[in-house]
Amino acid sequence: MARKMIIAGNWKMNKTPSETRSFIEELKPLVAGADAEVVCCVPAIDIIPAVEAAKGSNIVIGAENMYFEEKGAFTGEIAPNMLVDAGVTYVILGHSERREYFAETNETVNKKVKKAFEHGLKPIVCCGETLTQREQGITLDWIRQQIKIAFLDVTPEQAKEAVIAYEPIWAIGTGKVATTEQAQEVCGAIRQLIAEIYDEATAEAIRIQYGGSVAPKNAAELFAQPDIDGGLVGGASLKADFGQVVCYK
Ligand code: PGA
Repeated sequence: MARKMIIAGNWKMNKTPSETRSFIEELKPLVAGADAEVVCCVPAIDIIPAVEAAKGSNIVIGAENMYFEEKGAFTGEIAPNMLVDAGVTYVILGHSERREYFAETNETVNKKVKKAFEHGLKPIVCCGETLTQREQGITLDWIRQQIKIAFLDVTPEQAKEAVIAYEPIWAIGTGKVATTEQAQEVCGAIRQLIAEIYDEATAEAIRIQYGGSVAPKNAAELFAQPDIDGGLVGGASLKADFGQVVCYK
């Protein structure tokens, strides 16, 4: 069965709650005809207005992060059941900015992935190499390690529902998009790794996104690759451009 494409915006630290309401309203007609799952991953404080504004449309709302404990003395963190109660479907985990600025590791990402599944949230698990690692020729080793650890003790049934976002760090926010060959090579290797860890059926079901300077001008070519099932979109998800990325066909 063909995998459903999934195109997710990652707003990062942008838009206030009132900006969220008006932007989602603007987006609704632009994405209504999309032949893909449309997700907006928004800052925690924007989740409730985003869910309310998206009601009755084909836009689903995601979070950008989540903590791996149920509740308690973790000042400033957001628990999984809070996301569920607010109407969240997807949660981005292990984005390279969280790894770089907030000390997230493969191990904490794994804890979060397992906790998300416990609560019925679908993780968008991020991985990606630095430019130095690419130049050193260790891209695939690095990505394999990130994914292997992120999926430790995750069942095949859960893994089938997961989304993996391959985002080369050197392509994020730089306007320097990976070539379609580079993107397909890594996404294909990730699918092969999932087949090794689990089985062919899981590898066929899991969706793998490319992320890093996705824009209306490059979306169609990237998304036409056999192992690329959509994109994780930063900068272009903050504007009406997102409508064009989502309706790339
Ligand atoms: P970008 O960000 O599209 O602005 O490069 C992608 C991301 O970090 O998810």
